[in-house]
Amino acid sequence: MTQKLKEKYRPQFHFSPEKNWMNDPNGMVFFNDEYHLFYQCHPFDAKWGPMHWGHAVSKDLIHWEHLPVALSPDDHGTIFSGSAVVDWDNTSGFFDDKPGLVAIYTSHDMYPGSDRHRQRQSLAYSKDDGRTWVKFEGNPVLSDVNITDFRDPKVFWHSETNKWIMVLATGQSITFYTSPNLKEWEFASEFGKHAGSHDGVWECPDLFQLPVDQNTDNQKWVLLVSIGDNPDLKEGSRTQYFTGSFDGLTFVNDNYDETVLWLDYGRDNYAGVSWSDIPSHDGRRIYIGWMSNWRYANHLPTKEWRSAMTLPRVLSLTSSDNGARLVQKPVSEMSTLRKGIHSYHDLSIESNELQSFSLNHHSMEINIEFDKGSSNTFGVIIKHSETEKTVISYDCLKEILLADRTNSGENSFSSSFPAVQKAPLKMKNNRINLQLFIDASSIEIFANDGEVAVTSLIFPSEACKDLIFFSNEGKTNVPELKIIELNSIWNR
Ligand code: FRU
Repeated sequence: MTQKLKEKYRPQFHFSPEKNWMNDPNGMVFFNDEYHLFYQCHPFDAKWGPMHWGHAVSKDLIHWEHLPVALSPDDHGTIFSGSAVVDWDNTSGFFDDKPGLVAIYTSHDMYPGSDRHRQRQSLAYSKDDGRTWVKFEGNPVLSDVNITDFRDPKVFWHSETNKWIMVLATGQSITFYTSPNLKEWEFASEFGKHAGSHDGVWECPDLFQLPVDQNTDNQKWVLLVSIGDNPDLKEGSRTQYFTGSFDGLTFVNDNYDETVLWLDYGRDNYAGVSWSDIPSHDGRRIYIGWMSNWRYANHLPTKEWRSAMTLPRVLSLTSSDNGARLVQKPVSEMSTLRKGIHSYHDLSIESNELQSFSLNHHSMEINIEFDKGSSNTFGVIIKHSETEKTVISYDCLKEILLADRTNSGENSFSSSFPAVQKAPLKMKNNRINLQLFIDASSIEIFANDGEVAVTSLIFPSEACKDLIFFSNEGKTNVPELKIIELNSIWNR
């Protein structure tokens, strides 16, 4: 790999485009020993514009090779979000003697002679591992003149019914279609008009099955739905999920309509979906999100490129008093970036006395186990520079985790950016654990082994200077602390 991407704020272990604008991850698929990551991109500007699909491949989900743009606008419009699958049995008839890749995406243009958006679903196929693509001459393959927001197809093979399923965002609902061959689609059902959050337009759905508590006899379906920015709410764009059952036609929600489940409590995880065709001997459901927010994405203080993805995460379901809930953890491949590990045990943080560890590295993973002791609030300050810090704290009375980025660095580009992000988090035997990933312009927090995720961008002048523990109104214990330096993915 020749790339050495080292500009100010450039992520050192997250995927970011070599240059210019990126938003949603698209068409993630594993094929012939490669993870493909396509993404919404504007190849000629660092702001959103006419959408193309950018492309990168990886052998390990960590180190990425940037490839040329895969899909460019055509007579049907620009190329909005979508998915890709391996057509193992040549159901589409696009292939000759071996299977290939089919991309299913939204063609976006305007209804002729009008200012109304037109969104229709199209296909492209590749016979050379995604390096070159042919658009299907029968495009578009699915349209509906009555629905304006009609986009972001996620397609998967449903072996029980021997059909392809398309999960499509249709305004304030998700609509399911089925097909034998990816070219002809039939309406199956609609879900969600009255369920979950309707704070913004529904976008970028995904649907997959997961065992609960690793019990393969107890499987549930998870439906991810991103919801767009609503200027009246402070959170901006974010992602919710539903759990339930799916029989190849209809999704039935496990929860009451009013229940809203958030995938991430930080401001910067949007439009994420999962990889298709992960081999069954691996068996993981691997997810990646766009680490930004429509509220301010176009104004982030980077020049050469704009945006990054979250760390790739493994999703699983765990049972709770309220039903099955998603748990997410960074992929285990992340540990290959570990350089120096500094371990500490049984620290005690006295009331109102700070305890500091100096950090001389820019990319860090930090694992902390806290025992509340006699305190009512405790936490850790990531001191980026003399004047910039991010404060991660836990309120033991309210049982809330807080990530305060109001003084994390540059934030003048949007009044919505400075924020204290809050997540409900229960203690277990008076303990919580945090896994932090600190990159040049982001902090990801995985709390209680991934029960809660808080993903946030930050723009400090330096990433990490000191780690400072604090405890209020009593003593906090830290049975275990690991400070881990991470290599840059651009070093090879
Ligand atoms: C989500 C989204 C999608 C759309 C794409 C356009 O972030 O709005 O619904 O396909 O971005 O770039």
